[in-house]
Amino acid sequence: MRKPIIAGNWKMHKVRDEALEFVYLVSQHVPPIEEVDTVICAQAVLLRSLVKRQGDNLRIGAQNMFYEDKGAYTGEVSPVTLEDAGVKYVIIGHSERRQYFHETDEDVNKKVHAALRHDLIPIICVGERLEERENNLTNQVVERQTVLALKGLTQEQVKNIVIAYEPIWAIGTGRTATAEMANETCGFIRSVIAREYGQEVADEVRIQYGGSVNPDNIKELMAQEHIDGCLIGGASLDPYAFIKMANYKKL
Ligand code: 13P
Repeated sequence: MRKPIIAGNWKMHKVRDEALEFVYLVSQHVPPIEEVDTVICAQAVLLRSLVKRQGDNLRIGAQNMFYEDKGAYTGEVSPVTLEDAGVKYVIIGHSERRQYFHETDEDVNKKVHAALRHDLIPIICVGERLEERENNLTNQVVERQTVLALKGLTQEQVKNIVIAYEPIWAIGTGRTATAEMANETCGFIRSVIAREYGQEVADEVRIQYGGSVNPDNIKELMAQEHIDGCLIGGASLDPYAFIKMANYKKL
């Protein structure tokens, strides 16, 4: 059985005091880590202080990193500093990074390798734009993004990564993919992994859905066969909403 993983992506929100208060409160109300992995992904400058407050059952993630360990790369964040800060997860290839910061599938692949070298679990984002869905290109797009992101990884490494299927048209729009649509694409991604790395790996890899997830729709999404977790933007900013979503089994 795949352990569920509920992650908040705060994007560029929250200053230190708010963030610390949130993590302190939420860490006391999330399910035991043996049952559900609960993660908050925050801006890089906050990570170290949040790790100190994470408690036993909450883990902290970054939203991006560079693929080199060190060097003349002004403004970038090294995987070494994330590891040193006690960060456990890192989101890689979010559609906002692909769109606004021109990240390519090749960059994503290099970052995935770098994350794994530093014991960080990558949460790799894939997903189609609205016009791609309308032109029946969804599977083609997520297949390309998935195959290229995982290029050169061993079966053992692929088992431990997380993939987040986030259709771009559902992000921040209030327009969630229906649970069936989300499940269908997550199932397709799993079949691509089975083809490339074998069924055993595909049965273990965790696939999240992201895009307008909230306390009202999370239970139905999490009930789907191929959805093992959610990556939550807007609704993760409110601690009480986040606590509800981490405890989706009780909703
Ligand atoms: P929303 O939940 O705000 O739609 O954002 C989804 C997302 O991009 C998470 O990474």
